[in-house]
Amino acid sequence: MDCPISRAVVPVAGLGTRLLPATKSQPKEMLPVARKPIVQYVVEELARNGVRNLLFVTGRGKAAIENHFDSDPALMESLRKAGKDDLLLALDFEELGLNILYTRQSVQRGLGDAILHGESFAGKEPFIVALGDSIIGLHGESMACQRMADAFVREDADVVIAVEEVEPAHVRFYGIVEPHGEGDVFRIRTMVEKPAPDTAPSRLAVSGRYVFGPGIFDRIRQVKPDKRGEIQITDAIRAIAEGGGKVMGVKLRPEEKRYDIGNMPSYFETFLEFALADPDHGERVRTYLRRILAE
Ligand code: G1P
Repeated sequence: MDCPISRAVVPVAGLGTRLLPATKSQPKEMLPVARKPIVQYVVEELARNGVRNLLFVTGRGKAAIENHFDSDPALMESLRKAGKDDLLLALDFEELGLNILYTRQSVQRGLGDAILHGESFAGKEPFIVALGDSIIGLHGESMACQRMADAFVREDADVVIAVEEVEPAHVRFYGIVEPHGEGDVFRIRTMVEKPAPDTAPSRLAVSGRYVFGPGIFDRIRQVKPDKRGEIQITDAIRAIAEGGGKVMGVKLRPEEKRYDIGNMPSYFETFLEFALADPDHGERVRTYLRRILAE
């Protein structure tokens, strides 16, 4: 698949405290959603969108992610002997054609700082950032990153952000953009991190996928830490937009719902929705749910 941008940084260093106790000793990105861990959907989405080089920004306690994507010749051999072709295919990460690298954010200094860890990986090329705890579209089947990369090149943008309209009560959980113009691809005047509903400039929330030019790194370095000591990527993007840089929004399509797995209710909902859509077992889950709901 042709994509003008072949590099992606995937931050997975967050502690996952809102998903405790499930995340006590395993990364939240490794929680299963139906058949696969969350982060596998993200990696498969990126490969489908034309990414070839991927950098995970990990942290303490995240080794399971590295183990998951490592090749396991003994396991593959036993699956081959047992004739389990479907599992062989599902586990054949080499088939994705990705070169996967890892680096570590040792101190929790926020998303902006995590992205800064990708500076030497990105070099002077534009790159995608995909949050490792967000799946875009049922089973991650979205081509939003490719549309964003196309918009980045076509518009000669500095930053492109995926946005999704959220309910007024939810604006306080996200970065919210102030659009300048309409349509599915539009210019962003500015943005604010987690505003109160009455001060939010719109209901368009930043949704876990970004494209950046190399200029982002200097901007991140200029950001002052917030009161929790975190460097917010929103502050760096706002500085670019307000300084006359070109920041564009790309709207996610209706079939590109964003599954944000940062808290228990959204994790439960996502699991159920993916399990119901499972080609082999979905019908059985549906029957079971109907039955227990009727009891
Ligand atoms: C981060 C960003 C926020 C964005 C969200 C989802 O917040 O700071 O602007 O809306 O990801 O992409 P977090 O979920 O890490 O608190």
